[in-house]
Amino acid sequence: MANLEFSLPENFGEHDPKIGLVLGSGLGDFVDALTDTQQIAYTDISGLPKSGVEGHAGQLHLGKLGGVEIAVAQGRVHVYEGWSARDTAAMIRLFDQLGIKTVILTNAAGIVNANFKPGRWMLISDHLNLARESPLTGSPTFIDQTEVYSRELREMLRTEAAEISSSHLFEGVYAWVNGPEYETPAEVRMLRSLGADAVGMSTVPEAIQARALRMRVVGLSCLTNYGAGLSGQPLNHAEVVEVGKHAAGELFTLLESAVPAMVEI
Ligand code: HPA
Repeated sequence: MANLEFSLPENFGEHDPKIGLVLGSGLGDFVDALTDTQQIAYTDISGLPKSGVEGHAGQLHLGKLGGVEIAVAQGRVHVYEGWSARDTAAMIRLFDQLGIKTVILTNAAGIVNANFKPGRWMLISDHLNLARESPLTGSPTFIDQTEVYSRELREMLRTEAAEISSSHLFEGVYAWVNGPEYETPAEVRMLRSLGADAVGMSTVPEAIQARALRMRVVGLSCLTNYGAGLSGQPLNHAEVVEVGKHAAGELFTLLESAVPAMVEI
């Protein structure tokens, strides 16, 4: 047998997940609505980095959503904790090992485009890798990035969102910064002039890794707060987690109908 990067515990049952979902800060409650779940602590999967940030629990859930088998990563590790970009994308390589071909990456993000509203979701159309780190460092993988976030799946999600939800799904460019400190107002203005609509500290290395493994990628940002200087209010992590918690229900409603459609196309 091939040398696998990760080994799963022996009690890992019969699972054939079609979709891999990574939950961002504050979105952990999402897993409560899955059915037929088996839960595995990251600490029981050898090869996987363990997360230590509040709001990132560190559990892999295998269950069903809208009748489709799904693997949900509750908690991720970040470059700001000292992990390499390759480490932060380990979950994607585990998804690949499980045979998953489509990943949904979610995160909490600050608003850079002042027309967007806190508490709403933004479909990621493209990204800016301003952390200038890559999960592919060390392997000369010159992958194409013309369409990191599947156009086809975005169209489908837009249609689903319009049908089921009263609140608007924004769409735009996500800028990845290292953090852990939030931006200064000058940095938020700079991000806007570079073409960003939202800013956050995750997701991009996972998206790059997923594309390198030829997976289809969907990115969804929960817009938890206005970026520094846009509202006059100071930013804090507790608020980011709190807004995420409220928005998790809306994500669930959207994905419950979108996930079955996703495996059809
Ligand atoms: N900046 C960066 N990352 C974030 C923010 C922000 O304002 N909000 C949530 N994650």
